[in-house]
Amino acid sequence: MKVKVKVPATSANMGPGFDSIGVAVQLYNYLEVEPIEQGFEIIIKKEQSIAIPTDEKNLIYQTMQQFFETLGKPMPAVRLTQFDDIPMARGLGSSAACIVAGLLAANTLAGNPYTKDDLAKMAAKIEGHPDNSNPAFFGSMVTGVLTEKSMEYVRLELPDDLLFAIIVPNFPVSTKSSRSVLPPHYDRQDVVYNVSRAALLVASILTGKYENLEVAMDDKIHQPYRKVLIPHMEEIFGNAKKCGAIACYLSGAGSTLMAMVTKEHAEEFRNKMSTYLQTLPDDWQLTLLSADKEGATVVTE
Ligand code: HSE
Repeated sequence: MKVKVKVPATSANMGPGFDSIGVAVQLYNYLEVEPIEQGFEIIIKKEQSIAIPTDEKNLIYQTMQQFFETLGKPMPAVRLTQFDDIPMARGLGSSAACIVAGLLAANTLAGNPYTKDDLAKMAAKIEGHPDNSNPAFFGSMVTGVLTEKSMEYVRLELPDDLLFAIIVPNFPVSTKSSRSVLPPHYDRQDVVYNVSRAALLVASILTGKYENLEVAMDDKIHQPYRKVLIPHMEEIFGNAKKCGAIACYLSGAGSTLMAMVTKEHAEEFRNKMSTYLQTLPDDWQLTLLSADKEGATVVTE
């Protein structure tokens, strides 16, 4: 049996929701898995600026191995064919997409012993936080908490008039290096700053109060520390707002910057912002995307 899965890119944190809130956007990785006689084979159909491993270090392969180990069954001999549109090490959930693709494909091959809920819990555990894997599985915006024993989440419906403008530079930032610049402890006032904004963010999205988002998407837990890794971050945020963005944040661990824009202002935003980005180094590329509402799917042909 040949299995094909499609997984969306995701943008984690959404400002104050560090390691908990994320959104899926319409940019995809595709994975095809087919049984072979023995061993494994990995084919990369679309090369990235960072080489994707085709040996045992391949993240999809490792995830599938882990899945079958948990299931207590031997890993079948497979050929994996990857077609990845999600850029690697840019804060758009490319690792989570591989983990989610591996779990969904393995589960399908095994005859669906686990529910999507079970798989989302496994993915969050593997990643160590659920803010990319949850929206990758369920689509839209998801707020989640990973506990010792479980992972609780709520998927929120996003309004249709919101667009997500990804602003992607030519330099990568690894999650590991981006987490290493964060302090081990925070002041109470910074914690209150984020807790109050994360709550306001969710409530404002649910009620369509976009006027709150500029305040709601501010953060003191990770962005102030990570800006040293992203030249021009604050300048780009400032200009995005001048060009009509409702709110901006650092997407995941970076290096992508995200601006939220209403459909009504999208064209004007695209024109003004593209012109401004051309004045900067690092080849920043702007793409306006809708939210993905479906999440990871098994593609039937
Ligand atoms: N919440 C994570 C972080 C997302 O900001 O480090 C990146 O994996």
